[in-house]
Amino acid sequence: MRSLLAALLLALSLTQAPPAQAQARPAGSPIKPAPGWQPPAPAGAASPQAPAASRPRVRTDAAAADQDSFYDPSNPAFAQLQKADQALAGMPLDRAGLIDWMRMLDDGQISPREGLSGTGRAQPLDLDILLKNTRQMPWVRFPHSSHTRWLDCANCHPSPFEQRTGAARITMESIFRGQWCGMCHDRVAFITHLACERCHSVRNPAIAPEQ
Ligand code: HEC
Ligand code: HEC
Ligand code: HEC
Repeated sequence: MRSLLAALLLALSLTQAPPAQAQARPAGSPIKPAPGWQPPAPAGAASPQAPAASRPRVRTDAAAADQDSFYDPSNPAFAQLQKADQALAGMPLDRAGLIDWMRMLDDGQISPREGLSGTGRAQPLDLDILLKNTRQMPWVRFPHSSHTRWLDCANCHPSPFEQRTGAARITMESIFRGQWCGMCHDRVAFITHLACERCHSVRNPAIAPEQ
């Protein structure tokens, strides 16, 4: 529970940090910038709230410090493995700095097979579901269109989701524990606590009546 709260607080501070974050540190500050941190662009240009287009959008070919830590470098086959920096270079990044797979699909940079045998056909469905039990957060928009380009209906129906809007009693805690959306998000799909706004994307009139 404590780590859940910590994750929530971290995410809230990430999403709501004021532009002051970009201010220069006082001279002689012992605080070192995070790895990969870039000095902010001159005033008037990119801010932390700036539209995604003005942030670094593409994975460089620089090797991440720990990218080979999954492997045994003394194994003779290690040299033959394609390294992550080679495989991922040029791929678009999301706001959290991770590969944006939806963008890869939209831009046609990947075209996943529609079945193991290669003969199946995806069954796209353009139906947005609006989920409004979000308390002080914007409402959640679940896009069937994005999901059915990768997934069969049977991945989600009848379990864990009934084909009836509002049937599921979803909480963030259950998502963080791997249920509902969390069966895939945090595992094979984008990381939940780094991207509240990708799901909570619809204005909630109860918290933002003016916008
Ligand atoms: C993968 C999609 C997804 C992401 C990412 C996500 N949420 Fe949610 N959230 C949901 C869904 C679905 C509900 C339930 C809505 C409903 O049932 O009407 C929900 C409900 C909530 C609720 C109300 C229920 C509760 O548990 O208190 C809060 C508060 C909330 N989310 C906060 C957050 C915060 C903060 C983040 C980022 C750390 C976040 N959410 C990220 C999908 C998501
Ligand atoms: C990634 C998960 C996922 C996939 C894949 C998926 N759905 Fe859904 N579907 C949902 C969720 C979530 C809801 C809302 C459930 C709730 O609110 O309890 C829903 C609701 C529905 C509803 C009810 C809509 C309404 O008006 O009440 C229908 C119909 C539906 N889905 C059909 C389909 C069909 C047909 C496919 C395959 C082409 C499909 N779904 C694939 C997650 C999915
Ligand atoms: C069966 C697996 C699965 C489940 C369950 C699932 N998702 Fe996803 N979702 C994916 C995959 C795969 C992607 C695409 C990869 C990525 O963006 O990381 C995705 C992408 C998304 C996107 C980005 C869409 C876009 O066009 O940019 C949103 C928003 C989203 N999911 C919301 C939800 C919400 C809300 C729920 C729960 C109600 C949910 N998902 C449940 C697998 C799932």
